[in-house]
Amino acid sequence: METRGAAGKVRPHEYLDRAVIFLGPPGAGKGTQAKVLAQHFGAPHLSTGDMLREHVEHGTSLGSQAQPIMSRGELVPDSLVLKMVAERIERRDCIHGFVFDGFPRTVAQAQYLGQLLHEHGYRRPIVLHLVIDLPLLMKRLTGRRVCKIGGEIYNIYDRPPKVACRCDNDGGELIQRPDDSEEVIAPRLAAYEKQTSPLVAYYRRLGLLHQIDAAKSVDEVKQQVLQSVLNAKRPH
Ligand code: AP5
Repeated sequence: METRGAAGKVRPHEYLDRAVIFLGPPGAGKGTQAKVLAQHFGAPHLSTGDMLREHVEHGTSLGSQAQPIMSRGELVPDSLVLKMVAERIERRDCIHGFVFDGFPRTVAQAQYLGQLLHEHGYRRPIVLHLVIDLPLLMKRLTGRRVCKIGGEIYNIYDRPPKVACRCDNDGGELIQRPDDSEEVIAPRLAAYEKQTSPLVAYYRRLGLLHQIDAAKSVDEVKQQVLQSVLNAKRPH
């Protein structure tokens, strides 16, 4: 295969050597699993939600445009997200592959990403579709708490911290995301159904989709994810 650009350099087998995309509704476990997979391969974890929240926190122009949209549970316009992603994958740490969490989220984003990966000489991405039923999602979203310092993800029902409201890793305060309120969860799920779920058929048609049963425990999902990635990476 012809490889070009920064990603075209020699990529030993243990590297991820391409993009992995986590696709699934809010609360399916994309962030939890993307972090672990990225760590396993020493690759960057690229969460567009985290990047946007950082912009909001730092009061950048992008952050002030995104904040009201995120607080309504709607998707931020493609034009804002695509520029942010394109700049991020230009960085040197992406040279051996990276793990997307929450991107792409529309067919236009997926088409743009396909073009971007091709231009940079990456192999075709691996798309992991986290499949899960609605009642479980509500419990996961309303119970989620996130460390303010390191971003570690907890759940008051299934993965509580050892000390209430404090992160096990760094003692940071655990907070609830503003969009995890019941009023905002409904529009987020609706946006997923309308704008993001068509990506399942899109990536299936391209032969890139791997189904993951996301209702299982974190460890069981982790095993399925790793197995799917290793199978997809194996030369056919
Ligand atoms: P984003 O931050 O991407 O949120 P999301 O897609 O709604 O996904 P979540 O982070 O809510 O859930 P997750 O699947 O990562 O689950 P997690 O692992 O945390 O986006 C936020 C907003 O930013 C969007 O609404 C939009 O406005 C904007 N945005 C972002 N990207 C965009 C884009 N590309 N285009 C346009 N707009 C964009 O797990 C959830 C909970 O479940 C946790 O408590 C966890 O501990 C628990 N849990 C996880 N796995 C398990 C398991 N197997 N068993 C039991 N509990 C589990």
